[in-house]
This record gives sequence, C-alpha cells and structure tokens, in this order.
Amino acid sequence: TPRVFSGIQPSGGLTLGNYLGAIKRFVTMQDEVAQSIYCMVDLHAITVWQDPKDLLHNTRELAAGFIASGISPEKSILINQSQVPEHAQLGWIFNCVARMGWMQRMTQFKDKAGKNAQNVSLGLFGYPALMAADILVYHATHVPVGEDQKQHLELTRDIAAKFNHDYGVDFFPMTEPVIEGAATRVMSLRDGCKKMSKSDPSDASRINMTDDADVISKKIRKAKTDPDGLPSDIDGLEGRPEARNLVNIFAALSERSVEDVLSEVGGQQFGTFKPLLADLAVAKLSPISGEMARLMDDPAEIDRILARGASQAREITAPILKKTYEIVGMVGPA
Ligand code: TYM
Repeated sequence: TPRVFSGIQPSGGLTLGNYLGAIKRFVTMQDEVAQSIYCMVDLHAITVWQDPKDLLHNTRELAAGFIASGISPEKSILINQSQVPEHAQLGWIFNCVARMGWMQRMTQFKDKAGKNAQNVSLGLFGYPALMAADILVYHATHVPVGEDQKQHLELTRDIAAKFNHDYGVDFFPMTEPVIEGAATRVMSLRDGCKKMSKSDPSDASRINMTDDADVISKKIRKAKTDPDGLPSDIDGLEGRPEARNLVNIFAALSERSVEDVLSEVGGQQFGTFKPLLADLAVAKLSPISGEMARLMDDPAEIDRILARGASQAREITAPILKKTYEIVGMVGPA
C-alpha cells in the first residue's frame, strides 16, 4: 500500500517555493493515500550552523506552517525528525552503505560547499544518506518534492538497492519521487534562472509565508520581467524565464494548467497581469500566515502535536529498524 513521506528543513522561514513545490501538494496527497508522514528535518538543518534559539523557533513555525496550510494532524503524522530516533539510527547504517563517490556527485553538496569543501561539516556531506533513512525507515513508497530534490531521491534508490543486494534481501522498497505540477521549480523574483530560496541574500527575490499583503504585492510589482506582453501559448514562454515563472506561480496558486491561464491572460501587459497575480497571492497566502501567527501564540500546543506525532511514527519505525538490525547481524533485544 502506498505510503507518503516528505520533509522540510527548519533552517529559516518558509518560502512560496516550499509552499507550491512541497506543502500544497502534501495537503492534496494526505487525502489520496492511506498514510502520510510529514517531517521537520532539524537534524538536516544543523548540517550548517543554526543558532539554537532560531532553530527552536523555526521548527515550531514550520509545524505551524504545515498545519495552517491544511495538513491535519488527524489525517497525517506530523513529526520533528530528532524526536524519532530511528531516523538517525538507520542513517548510520546507510552511512556504511553509501559510497564516497556517490556523495561527491551530489550537486546540492557541491553548491552548498562551494570552494570551501574542506571546511563544511561532515554532516553536510552525509546529508543524503540521512535523507534516505528518513524515507526508508517508513518503507515509504512516494515522496512529493520540488525538482531540486530529484538527485537525492535517485540516491535513496541506490542505497536501498545496494542494501538489498549486499544482504541478499528484498527489504527496502524502491521509492518513487512525485515531482508534479506547474511549480516544481519556483524561481527567484529577481532572476528567472535562479531558484527561489530562503538563503538568497535578497529578500525581494522571494515571497516568505510570513510576508503581509503589502509586502507580497510590492515584491510582485517589482518582480523582474521582460518588456513584452504575455503570450497566449506555452511556446511563447520560450527563452523568457521571468515570464514563465510568474505564469507558473499563477497557475499553481489558482490550481489551473499553464495552458488554461495563458488562454485567459495572453496579450496582457505585465502592468495588468502583476496586480492580478498579487491579488491572487494575497488571497491564498494571507489566511495561511494569519493562522500561522495564531498557532505560534500557543507553542505548547504545537509541542503536544509533535509529541503525539512522534509516538505514532515510532510504531512504524521501531519494527523496521529492529528488522534492519537483524538483517545486518546485530544482537537484538532479549
Ligand atoms: P528543503 O527544506 O530545501 O525544501 C523543502 C521542499 O521544498 C521544495 N522547494 C521548492 N520547490 C519548488 N521551487 C522552489 N524554489 C523550492 N525550494 C524548495 C524542495 O524541493 C522540498 O521538497 N533535503 C530536503 C529535506 C528532506 C527531505 C527528506 C525531503 C530531508 N529528508 C526526505 C523529502 C524526503 C530539503 O532540503 O528540502
């Protein structure tokens, strides 16, 4: 039976990219499958320095963001990674399965390490092995993510296959990435060739889930565009990354196809289209940020939800870890 798992790092605020590429789709999927697990990956976040107070705040705020966006703790299991120790335990086993050469090919590592590869944490290098453990400690079959996580999910399959092969078992499933919709790669508002990211130094490059209506409108009005009007079909977006990005965002927010959107707005100038997009973004995002702020007034309630999620999660992860230890040849509990 299908089981969905996905995670987001509490390493700063949520962006529109996280919302459209991930959370919005988590909400849909929780109604489509019997079991879905959504995770704040704090152990991944600390692969680069996090101020402890910020980490704590950002983890709770991310939980609030999940719930405010429509993830129901009744339908899904909502967890914080470090509260379910089996993630890190299986992660160690996978550190011993994954090969140095595989990790060295990870483009996200190369991007994050830059020229400074000698001085990043060992955890940053091993990051994808822990990510594989997050998924496989549930025997999850489907993982909704944005385009940038594709290579990590291929590595997850490589780790599962090597484990199964080395130990002569058919234990870990081959997970399917689910990368679908108009917004699998939301781009920066300042540069249509760069991903929208919480780590971009320019705040104008992104929409944060906590931005108020004025800020959202202003960022969209100021978004980079080219001088032409909007085309009436997809071919007309060729070579126009900024135009494509704004149309993709419009389509994803309004849950319509890009073709459908273009058939309506084709021929418009950006001076007409941008206010429409700004209104749509405010209408969709403001209720979420309002609800996030309300939930953040009661952090103890968020902590209770996460504690309950962790104990539900461990009913799944503990038996899978126990079986893994047996396969590897470890002396189990008496
Ligand atoms: P993270 O925290 O960088 O991003 C969380 C999710 O948001 C998606 N995303 C985007 N989608 C579209 N456009 C964008 N500009 C954009 N920016 C981010 C990401 O693709 C992701 O789906 N390694 C993961 C976290 C993780 C994980 C896992 C995911 C840890 N363990 C297990 C799935 C399964 C990460 O850094 O995501």
